[in-house]
Amino acid sequence: MTPAQGIETLALAVSMRQSLWLYPIVEIVHITGFVTLVGSVAMLDLRVLGVSKSLSVRALARHLLPWTLGALLLIVPSGLLMFIAHAGDFIDNPAFRLKMVLIIFAGLNAIAFHRGPFARAADWDTCRAAPPGARLSAAASLLIWVGVISCGRLLAYL
Ligand code: HEM
Repeated sequence: MTPAQGIETLALAVSMRQSLWLYPIVEIVHITGFVTLVGSVAMLDLRVLGVSKSLSVRALARHLLPWTLGALLLIVPSGLLMFIAHAGDFIDNPAFRLKMVLIIFAGLNAIAFHRGPFARAADWDTCRAAPPGARLSAAASLLIWVGVISCGRLLAYL
């Protein structure tokens, strides 16, 4: 028995497969979570890229970041529950592997942004263009998250 097959024998994994409503409900939680995460991230990225420049980028980040981090409390447990239900299939699925790699890149990009150009956001808080490094990070973030969503949707097809 492979480790993935072992995971699929867990009681929770068996319930996720056998229950009529558990998997769809968990997937709805997953979708609610990533809509909140990607939506809040995209709003900050667009502001950094120059949309609504009169809006304070620091005030916007203070408003959005709790939603971004809070959304992970929905996404990760629900994603893991769906994963354990069909671990053998997902572990071999190239879309799943790419999705996990992209999520790691999104996290590293966000850390680099917040520790880098955003640490000096007072210099470009309103009505000024963000520095090139910040705009590059925001553009990369938008592309990476569209990639994560695409991989997530393609999971059912590969
Ligand atoms: C962090 C950001 C994440 C985003 C934006 C995201 C996005 C998505 C999307 C768009 C889908 C397809 C939903 C559908 O078509 O109904 C999906 C499905 C899925 N996600 Fe995520 N996901 C994220 C994190 C995770 C994590 C951390 C895991 C777990 C390890 C995970 C596991 C899954 C699984 C197993 C499915 C397949 C559901 C199915 O089609 O049966 N996801 N995700």
